Amino acid sequence: MTRPPFGIYVHVPFCASRCGYCDFNTYTASELAGSGSSPDTWLEAVRRELVRAREVVGERPVDTVFVGGGTPSLIGAERLGAVLGTIRDEFGLAPGAEVTTESNPESTSPEFFAGLVEAGYTRVSLGMQSAAPHVLRVLERRHTPGRAVEAAREAAAAGIGHVNLDLIYATPGETTDDLRRSVEAVLEAGVDHVSAYSLIVEDGTAMARKVARGELPAPDDDVAAERYELIDDLLTAAGLHWYEVSNWARSAEAECRHNLGYWLDGDWWGIGPGAHSHLAGRRWWNVKHPARYAAADNPEADHEILTPQEQHTERVMMRLRLATGLDLALLDDAARAEATRAVGEGLLERHQDRMVLTRRGRLLADRVVQDLLLASDRTPA
Ligand SMILES: C[S@@+](CC[C@H](N)C(=O)[O-])C[C@H]1O[C@@H](n2cnc3c(N)ncnc32)[C@H](O)[C@@H]1O
Ligand code: SF4
Repeated sequence: MTRPPFGIYVHVPFCASRCGYCDFNTYTASELAGSGSSPDTWLEAVRRELVRAREVVGERPVDTVFVGGGTPSLIGAERLGAVLGTIRDEFGLAPGAEVTTESNPESTSPEFFAGLVEAGYTRVSLGMQSAAPHVLRVLERRHTPGRAVEAAREAAAAGIGHVNLDLIYATPGETTDDLRRSVEAVLEAGVDHVSAYSLIVEDGTAMARKVARGELPAPDDDVAAERYELIDDLLTAAGLHWYEVSNWARSAEAECRHNLGYWLDGDWWGIGPGAHSHLAGRRWWNVKHPARYAAADNPEADHEILTPQEQHTERVMMRLRLATGLDLALLDDAARAEATRAVGEGLLERHQDRMVLTRRGRLLADRVVQDLLLASDRTPA
């Protein structure tokens, strides 16, 4: 029997400054001052957790590694290399393993990418967000518009095989032309992967406070839908295909295998402060603060065992967002009838034994998922 793929996620909880829209588990140097935590105490604790993970998991080569944040590039290629070195020593990498790190354009350089290649990184994901200076200002991003494209080129020139650029669209003040120019800049950068997310105003962020005070309009859903269509049109015309609602790739090899592991019930161990893990139906998550994380022998904060019903809900939610679609065998009669209704509405398409979102369905993916799940709930078992 072949095992499901096994991934390791490593969370780097440091940022130079906090972008107004971001609610990720990340800290600036001034927020950590006096807590005793630093990139070096983090690295030591990450190595300790990797040793513990190896003891729990046993022998299992790693298929994918994803170092995310926060801002991994802020800690430098040497520490990122040390993390990968420990993963190699403890677990070993499977042949052809995908090894990604996220990076912020302003903390990268040709030397940084050369260091990543030397350490064995195969993929870099850069947060570009927009090519429009006024949009970057609303998002409170630090880099200049041209830097992300330049960084993507530097990464490829250094020998990083796969490069992604992240875009955020429908930021208040962004025009259709701003977005068009952003996508054109992404295409000029020659990357083989693009992620594009509609701006979410997360509770508790500086941006949410600005919206509440009336200083910034909330993003508009209709505008977001139009912008999504524009992104999809431009990327498709340039030869990229969607493989998840918010992700496009130039070829099957360019798809992010690590994220596909999350979406297809793979196993992964999340290392670092606040990281989440999933192994064979058990999910757990670590303490969030870097100082508590570094001080803990076992950083697990809590865990849950998913019920079969919860596992089903997640499977439907995640598989339906993929271009490979949802296997009809996963649905009961009521949900299949609902899927047939959604086909009539132009939201789903039947591809043999699978249901796949149409483009209109991609815009309403959450509603399609909810209707499928509610249809089963309404039917007495
Ligand atoms: C959390 S960041 C971490 C990587 C890196 N620090 C960066 O900013 O690119 C990963 C990506 O999540 C997306 N993101 C974060 N918060 C978001 C929000 N509130 N709405 C939409 N996208 C968001 C951004 O596109 C960002 O590139
Ligand atoms: S750089 Fe990335 S992780 Fe850091 S605050 Fe900004 S969006 Fe969040």
